[in-house]
Amino acid sequence: MLELAAGPGDTGFMAAERLGPTGLLLSTDVAPEMVAAARRRAAELGIENVEFRVADASAIDLPDAAVDGVLCRFGVMLVPDPGRALTEIARVLRPKGRVVLAVWAPSDANDWMTAAGRSALELGLSERPDPAAPGPFRLADPSELRRLVSGTGLRVEALEEVPIVWRAASLDDWWRAVQDQSRMLSTLLESAEPQEAKALRAGAERRLEKYVASDGSLEVPGLARALLGVLD
Ligand SMILES: C[S@@+](CC[C@H](N)C(=O)[O-])C[C@H]1O[C@@H](n2cnc3c(N)ncnc32)[C@H](O)[C@@H]1O
Repeated sequence: MLELAAGPGDTGFMAAERLGPTGLLLSTDVAPEMVAAARRRAAELGIENVEFRVADASAIDLPDAAVDGVLCRFGVMLVPDPGRALTEIARVLRPKGRVVLAVWAPSDANDWMTAAGRSALELGLSERPDPAAPGPFRLADPSELRRLVSGTGLRVEALEEVPIVWRAASLDDWWRAVQDQSRMLSTLLESAEPQEAKALRAGAERRLEKYVASDGSLEVPGLARALLGVLD
């Protein structure tokens, strides 16, 4: 099984445990630092049926029909041409092979990730993102996702909504987490004047107030989608 855009690798490691000792996971990411982090994580978890490789999802360095399964969580939408990555996935799958993808549903169903960006936009600190540019919501339209996957020859067997809940002990914890998760936000904050940064944070927190419990903790609903494709 091939995992693309694996990041620190945990999704694939869960699959590796199910593959059993005779199955092999190939854990890959375009960033060598991520591949190194995944290698360390696998050692910590004692996962042995895994190999690691730097790989670009747009040009997978494997022959045709090389793997039985492909896994990619929150990765295909970050590739400049997602259609090309999906074509590559179909190419490396063996007949009857399966792919599972996870993507984010639209930004308005994902306040955890978007509250700060919306605040920056309102304050004129950033431009409205180009919906066709690589980013978390690039494949948020399920009909476009279906069309792109079907266009590669893969059959879409299932496309399901996956509600999730993001949790933080406080708004301070949320603020720290999103700066860590979003390069766009951390870069913006580095160049912002202190007053602008303060206003950006206040605007973001106003958007999340409705999710704050009486003890100050947050539970923010989010929505992802999971697609299962099959090469008949
Ligand atoms: C949001 S993270 C998701 C990581 C992991 N799949 C997860 O769900 O925790 C996106 C990952 O995609 C990787 N990535 C971005 N562009 C890529 C590309 N063209 N090919 C392969 N990986 C890519 C990044 O390096 C990053 O590790």
